[in-house]
Amino acid sequence: MVKILWKGNKMRTPFVAGNWKMNKTVEEARNLVYSMSAKLREIQSVEKVLCPPFTSLLAISGLLEGTGIGLGAQNMYWEEKGAFTGEVSPAMVKELCQYAIIGHSERRAYFGETDETVNKKVKAAQTFDVTPIVCVGETLEQYESNRTSEVVARQIKFGLADVSPAFAPRIVVAYEPVWAIGTGKASSGENANGVVSKVIRPALTELFGAQTAQAIRVLYGGSVTASNASEFFGQSEIDGALVGGASLKVDEFVAITMAASKR
Ligand code: PGA
Repeated sequence: MVKILWKGNKMRTPFVAGNWKMNKTVEEARNLVYSMSAKLREIQSVEKVLCPPFTSLLAISGLLEGTGIGLGAQNMYWEEKGAFTGEVSPAMVKELCQYAIIGHSERRAYFGETDETVNKKVKAAQTFDVTPIVCVGETLEQYESNRTSEVVARQIKFGLADVSPAFAPRIVVAYEPVWAIGTGKASSGENANGVVSKVIRPALTELFGAQTAQAIRVLYGGSVTASNASEFFGQSEIDGALVGGASLKVDEFVAITMAASKR
């Protein structure tokens, strides 16, 4: 019998985003982009996005022009303007970026973000035509008490509530188990694929219908490296990766993106 290897849904363009978190001054960010953009740009069949800190967005936006590499913010407030000291509005993000990471677990854990604020930000992304990369995932405690399905389904249901069906296919979901982020202990491809196929796509189907749910890209995030990336990209339901630590290393990030192109 011939074993047919499922190579993923070809309708969904592979997607790789680098979340630089709170790393790199403007000068360092420029240098990192100089050293990776030529290599990344050669990898054509993948949607590639860099998410540096706010302070570097302007400098990096100039460097990425014409490269086919997208730029993303790591966060975004939902109000258009006003007395919100320290926040950055969707209109400001839109000036420089095409994407914004929303509801990253570090924002949920350290900055009080909830499914409700995530939802406000996703709706602001819709209004301002920014592609949201919406992060979901269970904590170690929730994982160990078998609450992954309940937690992740709730994050999708409330985080993406009242999004228009026309905008929904633009959304990118990142499944990032909190216990796998920055720990060097990635989930297995099989486990992550199970959460996407049994929890995330069904929740998306409930919100937007089966056809739209099939069109939405779902990434895996949490200790993705050049050596484990293809384990995730070989899964039927995983369309790419949100990469933290490894996105700061040129060879690692290029190799991860290359692996996604073979999906
Ligand atoms: P990590 O982070 O790759 O460093 O685990 C992933 C993320 O937080 O998006």
